[in-house]
Amino acid sequence: MKILGISLGTKNGNNDTMCRVALEECQKLGADIEFIHLFDWDIQTCTGCVACSRGLVMGKGMICTRKDDYKALYEKIVEADGLLVVDPIY
Ligand SMILES: Cc1cc2nc3c(=O)[nH]c(=O)nc-3n(C[C@H](O)[C@H](O)[C@H](O)COP(=O)(O)O)c2cc1C
Repeated sequence: MKILGISLGTKNGNNDTMCRVALEECQKLGADIEFIHLFDWDIQTCTGCVACSRGLVMGKGMICTRKDDYKALYEKIVEADGLLVVDPIY
C-alpha cells in the first residue's frame, strides 16, 4: 500500500511536520510512503481551456495543455492507495 502526503505549508513548517509524522505512522503500519512539498513543483494555473474535461469525456485520459509538473503529480496521485493533503489557512 502506498500513501502519498502533499503539503502546501511553509517549507519545514507545521504542515510539513504534521504530514511527515502522519506518514511515519503509516510506514510503521507497513505502508510505502512519499512526501511532497508542493511548492517544490512547477504547477501552473489553469487557463480553463477544457482540454482535460474533453479528454476525459472522450476516453483519452487526462490531458493538460500547460507544460508543468502537473502530469507527474497526477500520476503519483493516481498510483497512490491513500492521499493525505495538508494545507494551512492564511
Ligand atoms: C499571515 C498569516 C495568516 C494566518 N491566517 C490564519 C487564519 O485566518 N486562520 C487560521 O486558523 N490560522 C491562520 N494562520 C495560522 C496558520 O494557519 C498556522 O500558523 C499554520 O500552522 C501555518 O502552517 P505552516 O507552518 O505549515 O506554514 C495564519 C498565519 C499567518 C502567518
